[in-house]
Amino acid sequence: MPAEILIPTDECIARAARVLAKGGVVAMPTETVYGLAGIAFDERALASIFAVKERPTFDPLICHVPERAAGEDWLEHLVSQGLVDARVLTKTASERVRQLAERFWPGPLTMVLPKQPGVPDLATSGLPTVGVRCPRHPVAQRLLAAVGAPLAAPSANRFGRISPTTPQHVMSELGDRIELILDGGPCEIGLESTVILIDSVGEVLFLRPGGIAKEAIEFALDIRIVLSGADDLKVDTPLPSPGLLASHYAPRKPLHTFRREAWPRADAHARLGWLISSGKPPDGLQGARIEVLSPTGDLNEAARRLFGALRSLDEAVEVDEIWAELCPGDAGLAYAINDRLLKARHRP
Ligand code: TXA
Ligand code: MG
Repeated sequence: MPAEILIPTDECIARAARVLAKGGVVAMPTETVYGLAGIAFDERALASIFAVKERPTFDPLICHVPERAAGEDWLEHLVSQGLVDARVLTKTASERVRQLAERFWPGPLTMVLPKQPGVPDLATSGLPTVGVRCPRHPVAQRLLAAVGAPLAAPSANRFGRISPTTPQHVMSELGDRIELILDGGPCEIGLESTVILIDSVGEVLFLRPGGIAKEAIEFALDIRIVLSGADDLKVDTPLPSPGLLASHYAPRKPLHTFRREAWPRADAHARLGWLISSGKPPDGLQGARIEVLSPTGDLNEAARRLFGALRSLDEAVEVDEIWAELCPGDAGLAYAINDRLLKARHRP
């Protein structure tokens, strides 16, 4: 039986919560991408998440938390959810967690923080830290409230594949392996959350570019975040996080990237699919299919459309090979979009 795509009525949310309470998994919308959710403290659910996605267990999961109660302190909230051990955090570290949560939660920021002993090793790949995020999609929040426990949720795709930003994408990735997909419409951001690590003394390490710009985090904390091993942003720099493999988000077809200043001389006879990041394609561009992410160069729009456009070029029968234009510059969302495109490149 293929998965059911459910309009998230209260009844359907309650049904999804019952599946979760029994140790099962369901696909839920978030503002970034769709997630495959299971209760973070239930080993059965965690094992299913890895099995359904065919994900290696060295790749830790993000635990999603409900919104805090009115007036509650964010850090105490993470402690009371059973996830974060705040006792090992210095005052600076605690303040930084609070500042970032106040500024960006609910929203597309994941903080990797010292974990409490009760968090299963399967959720954290045996690391002493846990990734936490408070999502802002109302359906994710309603599900979290109905379940009453944090939900571990990686993106709802098979390992290494393009992340899903619509319920139909989830259906084509996992429809034969799960029971329920909650329909929250197309994702507002379209790229995964930004992942940072805050260590016990408050040092901030940038682990994955995503929905929140690095510059916005620097501004919020009034610091400069330096990437380890590189003094500036370079999309190809490997980041020190498990699971951030060089190859990811991979279409099945060969994908090549280029910058607008160096437009490739592609073989006129090949059946090409072009992914144009912004603006008009050049006059006379030959191709079996052309997808423009944002005609006006709006990076939010480009991010929102990225995974859907990649997926449709990958599925188009008239296309054999994909050529993707990187976004101009490397600031903010351009960095995150380019990171995904470079990881989607074909590696023989
Ligand atoms: O937007 C998102 O973050 C989506 C939605 C569903 O919330 N989730 C998502 O999860 O992208 P996933 O599993 O595809 O990516 C999680 C990544 C891991 O691959 C890892 O790199 C990093 O987050 N991560 C999680 N916990 C970590 C930890 N304890 N230490 C270091 N990195 C961690
Ligand atoms: Mg993923």
